[in-house]
Amino acid sequence: MILAPSILACDLGHLADQVQAAERGGAGAIHVDVMDGHYVPNISLGPAMVKACRGATRLPVDVHLMIERADLYLDAFVDAGASSVSVHVEALPHLQRALDHLRKRGASAGVALNPSTPIAALEEILPETQFVLVLSVNPGFSFQEFLPSSVDKIRRLREAIRSRGIASAIHVDGGVHSGNIRSVVEAGAQFVVSGAGVFGAGDPEGAVRRLIEASGEGR
Ligand code: DX5
Ligand code: ZN
Repeated sequence: MILAPSILACDLGHLADQVQAAERGGAGAIHVDVMDGHYVPNISLGPAMVKACRGATRLPVDVHLMIERADLYLDAFVDAGASSVSVHVEALPHLQRALDHLRKRGASAGVALNPSTPIAALEEILPETQFVLVLSVNPGFSFQEFLPSSVDKIRRLREAIRSRGIASAIHVDGGVHSGNIRSVVEAGAQFVVSGAGVFGAGDPEGAVRRLIEASGEGR
């Protein structure tokens, strides 16, 4: 299991310190939430912030695009240092082209699914994904409550991936804390994003350590 703190919830005035504390705690990647105020009702971070993370840590930087016309910005995020990029299936009509482009640029390519989007929406694209990001909140903000139906969705996605013999990893994002991390990992999530769970209480290093411990797995 890889724990990926979401810097959307951190103190951005001390970005490098916060990221480095999470890294000391055992984080395996840094998650950057990109929002455009159209696809989701919030405006957040862009390529400059990815570059700042890239300069602050050796951990991979995982970029979650919650924007319209994500295809226009893929190169900007890869150039800024993104190691992996996810695009929403609901937001991009030409998913295959976007994933292909990301892979050609050397980035790991993933698709993200909103809570109300069925796994069936991945029918054609699943074999082309390197990971699927299951949203366990409606995207837009940190500090929201985990939607419990996500656990079964992860389980069903794991089965869909297994039965088709596809090598795609399962990521989960939203409302994960030490009380529910074990359930998502047991259901099949191999990469867990956490914002409030890491940065909400002022001790990111300890919070990452406790989350990893609560998950029942090492890194
Ligand atoms: C939701 C974002 C998440 C969020 C996670 O819109 O995609 O990455 O910041 O934060 P928590 O863990 O606080 O839900
Ligand atoms: Zn996210």
